[in-house]
Amino acid sequence: MVSIKYFRLSRIKPSAAISKNREESMNKLGIVGAGAMGSDVGQLASESGFNVMIQDISKNALEQARNTISERLNKYLGEGRIDKVRSEEILSNISFETDMKKLSLSDIVLECVTEDKVEKMKVFSELDRICRGGIVLMSNTSSISITALGSATRRPESVIGIQFLIPARIMKVVEMIPGLLTTRETVETAKDFVKKMGKDFVISKDCPGFIVNRLLCLMINEAIFLVQEGAAAPEAIDKIMRDGLNIPMGPLAIADLIGLDNVLAVIEEMYTGYSDPKYRPCPLLKQYVSGGYLGKKSGRGFYIY
Ligand SMILES: NC(=O)c1ccc[n+]([C@@H]2O[C@H](COP(=O)([O-])OP(=O)(O)OC[C@H]3O[C@@H](n4cnc5c(N)ncnc54)[C@H](O)[C@@H]3O)[C@@H](O)[C@H]2O)c1
Repeated sequence: MVSIKYFRLSRIKPSAAISKNREESMNKLGIVGAGAMGSDVGQLASESGFNVMIQDISKNALEQARNTISERLNKYLGEGRIDKVRSEEILSNISFETDMKKLSLSDIVLECVTEDKVEKMKVFSELDRICRGGIVLMSNTSSISITALGSATRRPESVIGIQFLIPARIMKVVEMIPGLLTTRETVETAKDFVKKMGKDFVISKDCPGFIVNRLLCLMINEAIFLVQEGAAAPEAIDKIMRDGLNIPMGPLAIADLIGLDNVLAVIEEMYTGYSDPKYRPCPLLKQYVSGGYLGKKSGRGFYIY
């Protein structure tokens, strides 16, 4: 819903003092979804000084998230990158909850659930009911319309996409996606959030796949077509792309890291969103996902883990 408030807020000029106030009042970060991204961003946020609450409908996912973070911290400890006190501080700053109502205490929320529009809209509608008026609700979606997610709430002006990339602790930049009704005030709050997390950002328009996945997932899909057609083995495709273009990983290794279910969901969202056959998902990708080959997280994708 477009309100007069939206137009007024959008004219507010950011100032250093306002920005500092916003940053200081932004202490409690709620995260919905404790999967690969939720746990990764949750750890980064705790390291960056946030008090973090990670919520998930699955107890197993929460347990797994806690173990993953704890193992990573033990690794840092072993390498001498942090001491025991710091390691305990980072972990104790994160709580793990199944009850979404507990997120009512959050100053800002990042949704990190499965890449499914219906599921995400349900989450946004619930967050809108639970969270204080005025707080910013962000989505880590890789492809889904922020305007659509905002429409599930009564505060579309406070909804924005912030896509952290995997691994969030290491990647320097995030993609920021304002929806059609997102106000400038929300964008400024999101910028302060990103700054507190120690990241740089790029702003993208709210179009399916935004910038990163429109490019990356098409490359991955084409690489999968090459495998399907028997043109080359996954190792050969990744080797020529990695060493030939001097990029850290080949497209199929990246796909396994992202999760083949995520990759398929993004390609399908772009296929529907643009109604353009150039985004048709490769049948081999669909078959792998149906068969439970989800990449690194399931132990099998284009490689065996
Ligand atoms: N994995 C990546 O490389 C990557 C990169 C950038 C963005 N993303 C995006 O981040 C989001 C999460 O991806 P992921 O890889 O962490 O997925 P994942 O499958 O690892 O985790 C998703 C989690 O969401 C939980 N969940 C599902 N419905 C829920 C609900 N209604 N309430 C609470 N929890 C719920 C699941 O139990 C699961 O633990 C997706 O939108 C994805 O597109 C992922």
